Amino acid sequence: MAGLRQRLTDAAQIAPGGRSCGRDGSSDAGAGGTTVSARASLGGVDPAGLRAHFPVFERLAFLNAGTCGPIPEAAVRAAAETMALAAAEGRAHAYFTRMLELRGELRARYAALLGAQADDVAVTTCTSEGVVRVLAGLDLRAGDEILTSVGEHPGLLGPLAAARTQRGVTVRAVALEQIPGAVSAATRLVACSHVSWIDGAIVPELGGLEVPVLLDGAQGVGAIAVDVAALGCTFYAGSGQKWLCGPVATGMLWVASQWRERLLATGPTYLNLDDPSAGLDAVAHRTAARHDASAQSAEAAAAAAAALDVLAQFGWSAVHERAATLAQTLADGLARRGLAVAPRDRTTLVSWQDPDPPATRARLADVEVIIRDLPGTGLLRASVGAWNDESDLERLLSAL
Ligand SMILES: Cc1ncc(COP(=O)(O)O)c(C=O)c1O
Repeated sequence: MAGLRQRLTDAAQIAPGGRSCGRDGSSDAGAGGTTVSARASLGGVDPAGLRAHFPVFERLAFLNAGTCGPIPEAAVRAAAETMALAAAEGRAHAYFTRMLELRGELRARYAALLGAQADDVAVTTCTSEGVVRVLAGLDLRAGDEILTSVGEHPGLLGPLAAARTQRGVTVRAVALEQIPGAVSAATRLVACSHVSWIDGAIVPELGGLEVPVLLDGAQGVGAIAVDVAALGCTFYAGSGQKWLCGPVATGMLWVASQWRERLLATGPTYLNLDDPSAGLDAVAHRTAARHDASAQSAEAAAAAAAALDVLAQFGWSAVHERAATLAQTLADGLARRGLAVAPRDRTTLVSWQDPDPPATRARLADVEVIIRDLPGTGLLRASVGAWNDESDLERLLSAL
């Protein structure tokens, strides 16, 4: 850690002459012209090389990306350099220009990860914000039904409960796998997980439903391949701080093109406006940027982009494949020890029953194995990423 601290101090002392977001020599798309797809196809990094980007593995068996992913050192450096530049030069025109460039870059890169076009992606601060914007922006009234699944995360349940109390809608919950067959005449929206945060189950294909579908992609994007068109959804909300290893307060909301303007822009503040100087006559962007978060710092965006660079070098399909394979290895290892692993799909989450999950979670943390318990379920959950290796799994299994 002392080494990391020194490197960060060094980074903060750099006073780059102009643009800098310090990503291992790669220039940013805006200034350097490097395209997203060119960066993503670098390839050729071995698993140990990927793992070496993450300081947390110097000490911990970190298996908690479902809460927040490990932060690569390059992301820390990018944030530090961006702040150092802002501190040295003042946050004026250049800072804001940089901030907007980075926002555009993140939008394009998130879109590529979702199999979408950039104009359909809003840059948000988290999955929950995307959920809130969709629920608030739809014309939902008393008597309308929202169909959801049992076992959803509070990031979705909170906004659903608010829609029920504030707008009089009915919320009906069925098992995730039953969603496609459970739409009723009263259903106006389906809102559920892409990947369950409880057991890693994947929602069945939802294409062909006659109502819009909001997917909570907090445990989807970055963890497994996502293709919003194939999923048959209308809205896809995702997190930047989990499987994409960015800082907290990064995320995205994909909105199907035909819904971009149909979904009310609930907070069209100046960054969402085409011409903010038009005063009360200003109109929101026609693209999904109308649904962007009101603020996101250049340093957060720089860190998020740097983290994406680290993962993209490895190749996204290799990242997904390695994580899913390691997760299955862990599930098999737990089962061999006689533990009851929750039924799961080929994702990155593995949950199993434990007599006292909070106590076991704390006991594992004492030996530097980081997982989480899932309150009220009797389950512990490990999140397995491409950055993990067999030694992490062995440390977890032998500590149990
Ligand atoms: C399924 C699910 N939805 C939503 C959230 C909330 O994510 P965020 O903090 O990005 O809003 C989480 C976080 O753990 C989650 O697992």
